[in-house]
Amino acid sequence: MLLYEGKAKQIFSTENENEFIVYYKDDATAFNGEKKAEIASKGILNNKISTIMFEELAKEGIESHFIKSLSDREMLVKKVEILPLEVIVRNITAGSFCKRYGVEEGIVLDTPIFEMSYKNDDFGDPLLNDDHAVALKLATREEIDFLRTQTLKINEIMKKFFLKMDLKLVDFKLEFGKDVNGKVILADEISPDTCRLWDVNTNEKLDKDRFRRDLGDLVQGYEEVLARLNK
Ligand code: C5P
Repeated sequence: MLLYEGKAKQIFSTENENEFIVYYKDDATAFNGEKKAEIASKGILNNKISTIMFEELAKEGIESHFIKSLSDREMLVKKVEILPLEVIVRNITAGSFCKRYGVEEGIVLDTPIFEMSYKNDDFGDPLLNDDHAVALKLATREEIDFLRTQTLKINEIMKKFFLKMDLKLVDFKLEFGKDVNGKVILADEISPDTCRLWDVNTNEKLDKDRFRRDLGDLVQGYEEVLARLNK
């Protein structure tokens, strides 16, 4: 049964009440849904790339909702209740950071920046700090401390992993959820929809900015990422 439909994925219940199926759609949206398109095979690529990323993180001891891949577009995951927070790490300036603070794109930051925004389309996912998140009861202070530590650990693992494929991890967004025991674990997806990835030598953008900014064929970029991950 369909439980939830987001912009890029659908969540289905299964016979096991502790497990869900995530179905990756071909829909692409940007700017809070203002720009929309259907891009054939994007869902397949994101499912495959997310699978590789969750498996890689598991090898490094990072628990996530991922259980196994079921088909081209589907993965079996643990049932979690998603925290209404988008957790972002920035290694290199880009996107909303440049726009908000009037900074040039492509500046390597001395230390990674950890950001959170309130997952709420009606308010345009506003940026918030720890105090805001606690006051709004979106998470406890302990949970936020865990999110920060875990996300920065994930950043180090992913940065190293992508660099081996000649990809710079510019920034990315993660979502976490509470499992049936109340434990906070990594959830959602890790794909070029949610990570900015640039070629180390040319700075060619191989992520969703191709769609957001009309920089070239999106599928070609995602296929290039998958091909490098499969090498
Ligand atoms: O747009 P912004 O620069 O804040 O995005 C930072 C990172 O988070 C980018 O990698 C982007 O793809 C990702 N992101 C996302 N979903 C959102 C907002 C940002 O995956 N709703």
